[in-house]
Amino acid sequence: MQHLLSSQDLSHEQILSLLARAAEFLPTVRDRKRLTLAEGKILATLFYEPSTRTRFSFETAMLRLGGQVISNADMGSTSSAKKGETLFDTAKMVSSYADVIAMRHPEMGSVAELAKGSSVPVVNGGDGAGDHPTQGLLDLLTIQQELGRLDDFTVAMVGDLKNSRVVHSQCEFLMHFKNIRFLLVSPEGLKMPADLVAKLREKGFEVSETDSLESVMGECDVLSDTRIQQERFASEEEYLKYNGVYILTPALMAKAKEKMIVIDPLPRVNHISPEVDSDPRAKYFVQPTYGVAMRMAILATLLGL
Ligand code: NCD
Repeated sequence: MQHLLSSQDLSHEQILSLLARAAEFLPTVRDRKRLTLAEGKILATLFYEPSTRTRFSFETAMLRLGGQVISNADMGSTSSAKKGETLFDTAKMVSSYADVIAMRHPEMGSVAELAKGSSVPVVNGGDGAGDHPTQGLLDLLTIQQELGRLDDFTVAMVGDLKNSRVVHSQCEFLMHFKNIRFLLVSPEGLKMPADLVAKLREKGFEVSETDSLESVMGECDVLSDTRIQQERFASEEEYLKYNGVYILTPALMAKAKEKMIVIDPLPRVNHISPEVDSDPRAKYFVQPTYGVAMRMAILATLLGL
């Protein structure tokens, strides 16, 4: 593994090995301990787009591995990007300071662009509506740990399936497993990209599309929820057409299986009623623990530790 730029970069074996390594790191995360594995190593986090969880998660992962962090949460307005520096040159600079780079950017392909100039491993922390591989991997870890399996289940993906990079990454990773049924729930204008649906079908997965959240509630073992991605819309008006289209409520949860899980990368913006939080099937507030463990596994692997 030289970089982690895309959810398509990893083989089945590499995915299993990251899942196993992340599971080994879980006690360190839960006990809030610090290892010495990455002593002397530096992570640079370069974020050109807003983030709460992902940047802190990468940084916590590096600190718990025993490494250190240099960080810019506002690269677009406070770095030399503002003066016109290319991503290639930024990478040349940053890779002379840091041993590994995690980056988020609003444009698809930009993280791969930066990686061209980097002499150290680069991890994609989300590039536009494209891909968010570390989130996809932490979602796999959550499903494995909380549902107990990565084969033989029904997943309902709900929300802005067109623009959510998280569900795109989830599809790519879930394709490595067996007998998964995909129920895709979105408004007509926000459907999963057709090429991704075709790819799932070509690989033999059963896929159905609907605009009704209620119709899938009793069917799914995993409900993968996502917000409507406001920043990807051309106008506020366009966004408001979809705002609040799906709200997960206790009434909907009452129709769901007893043993199912709800995952969501968050942030919450009017799409999950706060009363659902106390439902034991709601896993979105335990996902950050899995996220740190998975990013520890990713950073350690990329650093050759
Ligand atoms: C996601 C993202 O940035 O794509 N958030 C995250 O990484 N936790 C999902 C989102 O913003 O909706």
